[in-house]
Amino acid sequence: MKHVLSAGQFDRKTLEEIMAQASDMEEIVAKGGSDMAKGKILATLFYEPSTRTRLSFEAAMHRLGGAVISETDVNFSSITKGEVLSDTARIVGGYADIIAIRSKTPGDAKIMADYSGVPVLNGGDGSAEHPTQGLLDLYTISKYFPLGESPITVSFVGELIAGRTVHSCSQLLRNFPNIKINFVAPKEIQIPDKYFDPSVDKKFFELTDEILETSDVIYDTRIQKERLDLEVYQKHKNAFHFDAEKVNKMKPNAILMHPLPRVNEIAYEVDELPQAKYFEQAINGVPVRMALIARGLGLI
Ligand code: CP
Repeated sequence: MKHVLSAGQFDRKTLEEIMAQASDMEEIVAKGGSDMAKGKILATLFYEPSTRTRLSFEAAMHRLGGAVISETDVNFSSITKGEVLSDTARIVGGYADIIAIRSKTPGDAKIMADYSGVPVLNGGDGSAEHPTQGLLDLYTISKYFPLGESPITVSFVGELIAGRTVHSCSQLLRNFPNIKINFVAPKEIQIPDKYFDPSVDKKFFELTDEILETSDVIYDTRIQKERLDLEVYQKHKNAFHFDAEKVNKMKPNAILMHPLPRVNEIAYEVDELPQAKYFEQAINGVPVRMALIARGLGLI
C-alpha cells in the first residue's frame, strides 16, 4: 500500500518518478482537471490548524474528479470524547478510499496506516515530519535546479528543532549527493542529531553574509510558538528577519523558500523580489498531492 508516512521511506528513483508525475498533474490542472479518481473518496482528518496542506489535498482530490469528506477541528471529532485513534482509523477506512491526516502527536499517521486498511498520507505529525510538504519543496527546488545535476547548497534557516518541514525536506535532499546542506539556527533550536549528518552537512548558529551570498536555496522557517517553551520562543522569535536588503545579497538566480505561514520572518517587500518563491511553492502542493493521491489509489 502506498502510504506516505516519512521522508525516509523514499529512494532517488521513486522521488524522480513522483516529480515527473507531479509535472504531469500540473498539465492536468492547466487543462481543467480529470475524472481519474471518479467514485473515490479522500478523508482529510486535520487535528491541528492548517490552510495550505488541507486545502491543497482537497483541491487535489477535486482536480482528480474524486470526492472529499473531512474533520477540520479535533473539538468536533469523537477523539475529544475519548475515542482512540486506532478506532477512528478503522471507521474512516470504511468510509474513504484514502486518508490524509494531520495531528499533534508524532506517529499518529503510522497508527492510521496500521488500522485503517487504506493508504494514508501524513500531512504533519507534531514536531516529527511533514513528508508531503517535503515532496512539494523538492518539486519546487527541481524547477530551478534540476535534481542530481550541478552542485548546489540549500540552507535551512530558523527554528529547526521542531520544524517538521525541514526534518522531511532535508531527508529527501540526501538522495541527491550534489546537494550540500547548511542548518542555520541558534543552538537551542538547531536541527536534532537524527537529521544531521556531520560528514556532509554544516551547522551555523547565525546567518552570515557568506551564507546569504553562497546559498542557491534559502529555506526560511517560522519560530513556532506552539511547539517551543515560551522562554525559548521569546528569546528567538526575531532571530532571523529577511528584508529586501538581506535578500538582495542572495545570488540573482538563488531562491527563497518558506513553508508558510510566515509571521515576521519575511518582510512583505520581499514578495516582489525575483528570489521570492514561497507562494509558488505553496501552489505546487496541488500537483504534488494529486500525484500522491493517484499513486495511493493505484491510478498511476
Ligand atoms: N506548510 C503548511 O503545512 O501550511 P499549513 O499549516 O497552512 O497547512
